[in-house]
Amino acid sequence: MKAALLCLGLAVGCTTQEGSTAIEIDLDLPQHFPEPVAPESNPLTAASVELGRHLFYDTRLSVNDTLACASCHKQESAFADDRALSLGATGTEGVLNAPSLGNAIYARPLTWAHGDITAIEDQLVGPMYGESPIEMGMTGSEDEILDRIREDSLYNDLFAEAYPDEPLSLELAKQALASFVRSLISYRAPFDDFVAGNPGAISQSAQRGSELFYSEKLGCSHCHAGFAFTTAVASSSTNTQPTSPFHNIGLYNVDGRGAYPAAAQGLISESGFERDMGRFRVPSLRNVALTAPYGHDGSVASLEAFIRIYEAGGRNVEGGSYAGDGRENPWRSIHLRRFELSDEERGDLVAFLESLSDQDFASDPRLAGPW
Ligand code: HEC
Ligand code: HEC
Repeated sequence: MKAALLCLGLAVGCTTQEGSTAIEIDLDLPQHFPEPVAPESNPLTAASVELGRHLFYDTRLSVNDTLACASCHKQESAFADDRALSLGATGTEGVLNAPSLGNAIYARPLTWAHGDITAIEDQLVGPMYGESPIEMGMTGSEDEILDRIREDSLYNDLFAEAYPDEPLSLELAKQALASFVRSLISYRAPFDDFVAGNPGAISQSAQRGSELFYSEKLGCSHCHAGFAFTTAVASSSTNTQPTSPFHNIGLYNVDGRGAYPAAAQGLISESGFERDMGRFRVPSLRNVALTAPYGHDGSVASLEAFIRIYEAGGRNVEGGSYAGDGRENPWRSIHLRRFELSDEERGDLVAFLESLSDQDFASDPRLAGPW
């Protein structure tokens, strides 16, 4: 909501257009990946991705020259943050865990709990200009930041190549950042090899884990479905967003009636409907072993701990200000089952999740910082 309002407020570049495949680079995708889309107003070109990569890793974009996109979206963590809650440019902690940007080109909607942000350009208004929490903190310092960029002759060249005949601007910077984010496609995990017909690509344990994952008993793939292991995706063949990729999984119950902590209550903050309490977007599980800690607020330390929460049917928070039994949360999704796993089975499920790690993606020099 916040980002959407800001977007209207700035009245610039609110690209929500969909349905085209304005992609001018070779993505070299495997067969089990659908064709993604990019908006016609911001075609995905090699030059815009290269400019975006420079900007993504550049602290000069933040109010006090301390923070880059990459400070919260770290390549070695598959472009997620290894902190539960990221620190903004002015040192304030946010309230949500920074998600992996892998395959964000497919994500619909974007962010943990906004139903209406469908274009990366629109999402970026949040970290660039947002004031609660402050991330890059650009609001009010736009001219200074532009000056810093203009002073660098490399940027003048990169902008001219990406957007010939257009004057260098923060609007174009945002377009280029969106292009770089769209180029972050991850499809080289061992599990992809396995799917492509190489049975030795993942361990026996991971194979048993995948059977558990896709079993009726666990039901994980009801929500973590398809090539990105989430229903919250769109591509050129399915360019409408899923009806409801938001679910409450019973992490909290601070008032005995299902409330989540006030800092982050999920979709209800946007919709106002009580039934949306604690509902967050289903995250992709690609690279999940690289993106600890887990959950919308990073409050779950490990994959094993996350699985144990599903086994118990929610999380019983025993002490502290968020105490309460999430297992009794009345808004918890009806699609979640309770189930029991042996230690070996739990290990198998973790091994399966680990087989979704694309180490090439997390270390590819073409996606790394240029500075
Ligand atoms: C201070 C830490 C921080 C900084 C800096 C930051 N982000 Fe994020 N990013 C986040 C958090 C937290 C979220 C989740 C926001 C939400 O769900 O509402 C997020 C979400 C996103 C998403 C949505 C991903 C998805 O799957 O929905 C994109 C895209 C993104 N950031 C790109 C960027 C870019 C590009 C920059 C630089 C302009 C940037 N971020 C700077 C913390 C940060
Ligand atoms: C009803 C839909 C649903 C089902 C079924 C489901 N999940 Fe989830 N999963 C979610 C949602 C929503 C979140 C984020 C919740 C939050 O943070 O509040 C999540 C988060 C996760 C995370 C943390 C990811 C991250 O990046 O933080 C893991 C790991 C996970 N699920 C694994 C599983 C496994 C394994 C199963 C099967 C046992 C499963 N899920 C079943 C909806 C579901």
